[in-house]
Amino acid sequence: MEYVIEMLNIRKEFPGIVANDNITLQLKKGEIHALLGENGAGKSTLMNVLFGLYQPEKGEIRVNGKKVNITNPNIANDLGIGMVHQHFMLVDTLTVTENIILGKEPTKLGHVNLKDASKEIKKISEQYGLSVDPNAKIADISVGMQQRVEILKTLYRGADILIFDEPTAVLTPQEILELIAIMKRLIAEGKSIILITHKLKEIMEVCDRVTVIRKGQGIGTVDVAETNENELASLMVGREVVFKTEKIESKPKQPVLTIENLTVKDARHVKAVNGLNLTVRAGEIIGIAGVDGNGQSELIEAITGLRKSESGTIKLNDKDITKFPPRKVTESGVGHIPQDRHKHGLVLDFPMSENIVLQTYYKKPYSKFGILDFKAITKKAKEIIAEYDVRTPSESTLARALSGGNQQKAIIGREIDRNPDLLIAAQPTRGLDVGAIEFIHKRLIEQRDQGKAVLLVSFELDEIMNVSDRIAVMYEGQIVAVVDPKETTEQGLGLLMAGSKKKETGEVNHV
Ligand SMILES: Nc1ncnc2c1ncn2[C@@H]1O[C@H](COP(=O)(O)OP(=O)(O)OP(=O)(O)O)[C@@H](O)[C@H]1O
Ligand SMILES: [Mg+2]
Repeated sequence: MEYVIEMLNIRKEFPGIVANDNITLQLKKGEIHALLGENGAGKSTLMNVLFGLYQPEKGEIRVNGKKVNITNPNIANDLGIGMVHQHFMLVDTLTVTENIILGKEPTKLGHVNLKDASKEIKKISEQYGLSVDPNAKIADISVGMQQRVEILKTLYRGADILIFDEPTAVLTPQEILELIAIMKRLIAEGKSIILITHKLKEIMEVCDRVTVIRKGQGIGTVDVAETNENELASLMVGREVVFKTEKIESKPKQPVLTIENLTVKDARHVKAVNGLNLTVRAGEIIGIAGVDGNGQSELIEAITGLRKSESGTIKLNDKDITKFPPRKVTESGVGHIPQDRHKHGLVLDFPMSENIVLQTYYKKPYSKFGILDFKAITKKAKEIIAEYDVRTPSESTLARALSGGNQQKAIIGREIDRNPDLLIAAQPTRGLDVGAIEFIHKRLIEQRDQGKAVLLVSFELDEIMNVSDRIAVMYEGQIVAVVDPKETTEQGLGLLMAGSKKKETGEVNHV
């Protein structure tokens, strides 16, 4: 039998929306099969159907040629199907082993046998080159490592077919390389993989075939060897996509954000930001390039009031905001597109409308004499949903029900709409499709052209190079170089990010 999985003419509806309409996907044994489509196209839904989380209204699923009824994830597990979700499902306070055996605890005379489980997990980890420590606590390990725990969990349950829902969206470039190696290892050991990713480069690099869906409908399946990035982009979006962002020369004016000698400690009380100086002016986009863990998160948390600074000053338009709590920072004119949209961006169990006024609900026109004006809130929400192409059945839909990319677009819309003097964008296009990325980049540049200061932090060098007017390289808690993107290459940037040399070019970043 050629196909290990066949999803034939699948239809899945949600109230007010057909998420999957007659979609067919066939997975061959030993292949990495990409599932590509815009944000909200229905990719996660289709995979949740395969994993037994949703029941399709129509269609048929076959595993190794045999028709099956996957009514819950346990059945999927029994059929050898495992899934690594877009948002991890691990318990922070438990260890790796405890998380992996959760719901499938091996018992010896009725007692949970952690020792045997831990041994088994170690063995699987070594077999696939995962390097996971079975005894580590989830809260203490990196996102990349947590993802490997999710992979281990599926392997521990005997999965032969692995579904990865946007695994690379949360990873750093280095972690992506490692994951690619792991996927190749899995294939070599006889597994088959369905991979959801928005990164066309990754598809070209690791996948054998790709199935494209658009707005819930199947567009077709193509061999990766017979296509290219441009064709894939137009297949999924339904039009040509511009990869290079057009922009005019920036005209920077007065400093908006001035950081002097800033020191910030991380959660382990180590200096993550260490005497940093940085100025962002009105009318310019400063891109911060750096390898993850060089203090970028702590820097942003310090500016936005989420983390306390040890020493140094942060000024916004000459006002010292160093000690301001988050709400006061926001009110002083700072917009923040946070790195972790679930932790700091949205309240998942609130409707979209309330999420859109999350920082402004207590003010006019959303609140009058302490009473919320839902009419005004709804109006604003509708406006942002339309303007930022947030695909949702309505503004009263819970944030949780939106696709990952559409949650992100809503946050970006909300932050830009507040019209801040300084817009901080941390990994703003993480999980967005190519069309949406193009749109967001235009929006950031538009903000700049309107005289706003934009601070962009991204692991995507393409994005940093394309969007920034100047690039500040962050290394070990300091800005070690400021370069003009037109005068540098990705390789050159990579060297600076690795701390290989310190360099100051052109106008020094600090006044
Ligand atoms: N539980 C749900 N209830 C209601 N609507 C839902 C639910 N899950 C998904 N949807 C809707 O179904 C559509 C498809 O969503 P899905 O999450 O499958 O998209 P996706 O292709 O994975 O997008 P992304 O790339 O942004 O993750 C979206 O319009 C979404 O709002
Ligand atoms: Mg998804």
